[in-house]
Amino acid sequence: MKEAIYDFDTMIAREQTDCVKYDLRQDTFGKEDVIPMWVADMDFETPDFITNAVAERAKHPIYGYTIMSDAYFDSVINWVKIRHSWDIKKEWISFTPGVVPGVNYAIHAFTEKGDGIIIQTPVYFPFGDSIKQNGRKVIENQLLLKNGRYTIDFEDLEKKTKQAKMILLSSPHNPVGRCWSLEELKALADICVRNNVIIVSDEIHNDLIIPGYQHIPTATLSDEIAEMTVTCIAPSKTFNIAGLATSSIIIQNAELREKFQKFSEQIHVSRGNLFGYVASVAAYQKGASWVDQLMRYVKNNFDYLASYLKSEIPQIEIIEMEATYLAWIDFRKTGLSDSELRRKLIFEAELGLSPGTIFGSGGQGFQRMNLAAPFKTIETACGGLKKAFG
Ligand SMILES: Cc1ncc(COP(=O)(O)O)c(C=O)c1O
Repeated sequence: MKEAIYDFDTMIAREQTDCVKYDLRQDTFGKEDVIPMWVADMDFETPDFITNAVAERAKHPIYGYTIMSDAYFDSVINWVKIRHSWDIKKEWISFTPGVVPGVNYAIHAFTEKGDGIIIQTPVYFPFGDSIKQNGRKVIENQLLLKNGRYTIDFEDLEKKTKQAKMILLSSPHNPVGRCWSLEELKALADICVRNNVIIVSDEIHNDLIIPGYQHIPTATLSDEIAEMTVTCIAPSKTFNIAGLATSSIIIQNAELREKFQKFSEQIHVSRGNLFGYVASVAAYQKGASWVDQLMRYVKNNFDYLASYLKSEIPQIEIIEMEATYLAWIDFRKTGLSDSELRRKLIFEAELGLSPGTIFGSGGQGFQRMNLAAPFKTIETACGGLKKAFG
């Protein structure tokens, strides 16, 4: 059969669809018509093999309580095996209505109030929020930035693990775009195992890998590491179905799994969204070629932006994006404060970006820009940057 060629160029109007990214612009930026390049969902249409499956199921007139079918489990098992060379078992998989809820379940199930939990800033801000809101203590292991590349401060991590029960690992990393190498993951996991620190490996961006890089699931590093690791995955980012709130948490260790599932049953969220399941099965059964095409497109957007900045506005620098569709941009050489920078971006460049400061220590002077949009949007955004900073 001929491979389908997918369209990522068409601009799709999303205004007034109750969509966070567009319909909350006035509230978030104080300006209704900024180009929204903040929230991490995509401006590409969800592929037809997913929308068709959802539409087909919607024709049945009852949308009652739903179980996770064998097709659901099989689709997850096959996807991670084929895409990530990871063999998992059905009983290792639990449902959560999103990865952040899964992280919160893990915090509840495996730690106590007052316990220390490590995050590697600058990092996806709900990590720190979830730790604090649950009465646990944030321990920062700030990433190092050397010659334009982020790495892990292992010496500091070794020290911090002495006071911690858990680490929330973003792999690949949002917002700095690192696709951690085998050596880095192994060094991090070995430190955690040695110090009895549970690794919650948030791998929601695992499929969004720039061609030439490879994602390695933390739990594949060794059996010992797998026994300490709780992995969070979802088709939500990959296939633009975040509104369907369906994720899988994979736990090999039977004792940890039992604690996790007990917590989820206690709060009655162990089973989820009918359409989320249908979409997830379709995505994982049929989505390989779509993702490959998506990431080639995203890479082209990144390359265009990077070379535009280099030639037109060289004081704005960009960190190489190895994974995700979120570019991490360094504005420090503009000499502006974070509030001046934000004002200029919104009112002169007319762009709605995510300020680096929300990602914690190390985020000052940076902005995160969502590149999962038609090329025309990227061109317009570059024009806005030139007008404001060129
Ligand atoms: C690292 C990371 N984890 C989790 C999420 C969101 O997960 P969910 O919407 O499934 O709760 C995001 C979204 O941007 C993310 O970047």
